[in-house]
Amino acid sequence: MRRFLALVSLVACLLTLSSNVNATKHFVLVHGAAHGAWCWYKVATLLESVGHNVTALDLTASGVNPSHVRQVKPLTDFLASLPDTADKVVLVGHSLGGLSISLAIESFPHKISVAIFISAFMPGPSLSYLAIYNKTTQEEGYFMDSQFIYDEGPNNPPTALHFGPNFIASRLYKLSPPEDLVLALSLARPFPLFYDQKLVTKEVKLTEERYGSVPRVFIMCDQDNGLEVSLQKWMIERNPPLEVRVINGTDHMVIATKPLKIFSNLIEIAEKYSYNSLKLIATS
Ligand SMILES: *[C@@H]1O[C@H](CO)[C@@H](O)[C@H](O)[C@H]1NC(C)=O
Ligand SMILES: *[C@@H]1O[C@H](CO)[C@@H](O)[C@H](O)[C@H]1NC(C)=O
Ligand SMILES: *[C@@H]1O[C@H](CO)[C@@H](O)[C@H](O)[C@H]1NC(C)=O
Repeated sequence: MRRFLALVSLVACLLTLSSNVNATKHFVLVHGAAHGAWCWYKVATLLESVGHNVTALDLTASGVNPSHVRQVKPLTDFLASLPDTADKVVLVGHSLGGLSISLAIESFPHKISVAIFISAFMPGPSLSYLAIYNKTTQEEGYFMDSQFIYDEGPNNPPTALHFGPNFIASRLYKLSPPEDLVLALSLARPFPLFYDQKLVTKEVKLTEERYGSVPRVFIMCDQDNGLEVSLQKWMIERNPPLEVRVINGTDHMVIATKPLKIFSNLIEIAEKYSYNSLKLIATS
């Protein structure tokens, strides 16, 4: 931890010295399944250390009779609360958080300068969430020691999923620092599954006009056992973003494993797409 903080201040110094473009950006960070705002602690610290505004959200906790809409509500509430005069935000989703940010892009395209998918679910106008979910989970035994939760009785589909410790250790945190794995094992929570096809199809309607109007960047993780590289590529082919970047030597939890790489990529991407951050002021 001390080494990490030393790095933070070093990075902060270097960037302050070298920065010619230092406009404050607002980064909105959205966690993946079973996680919470806490999982961004390294990346958020780095971004704040160079003066950016960071909002890491906790999506609604799961459990009983969960629904899509409720889970994503903290994010949509937050974006709705931003005044139309505010600068556009840089929206970042990790893992299953990609689903939430996709819904947010569709609802608030005019409030987002660029959306960044970090090894994340990336549904689009012609790639449904269910197709991605099916593809992710078709591997026999994918969920390992995870436990399905049946709130609506054993004869109905499961409503939630609790990742098991082996799943977390080997699919998500394989290359992460051991203390991050310990943190995740103590904080991971069950999260809602979206089996209600009608609800999903209705809620996850992404259009070219709205969703398609926001620049998207996908960051690939090359040694990801949670969302395999083949699956990352499969989504990218079917729903091409403007740009694809690769971070090498990282597992699924790149935000814990390579926080400096994520930090520098986020800063670069935010700058690169800042042409889209200005508000168009209507003139009469
Ligand atoms: C950061 O974001 C918050 C929440 O929207 C906002 O109230 C605040 O003014 C922002 N600060 C800066 C420095 O942009
Ligand atoms: C996903 O899999 C389910 C169950 O196998 C199937 O009923 C459904 O049609 C599939 N959906 C998509 C979009 O592939
Ligand atoms: C990642 O590794 C691949 C294959 O080894 C290599 O071709 C690529 O240049 C590397 N990319 C980065 C950004 O380091």
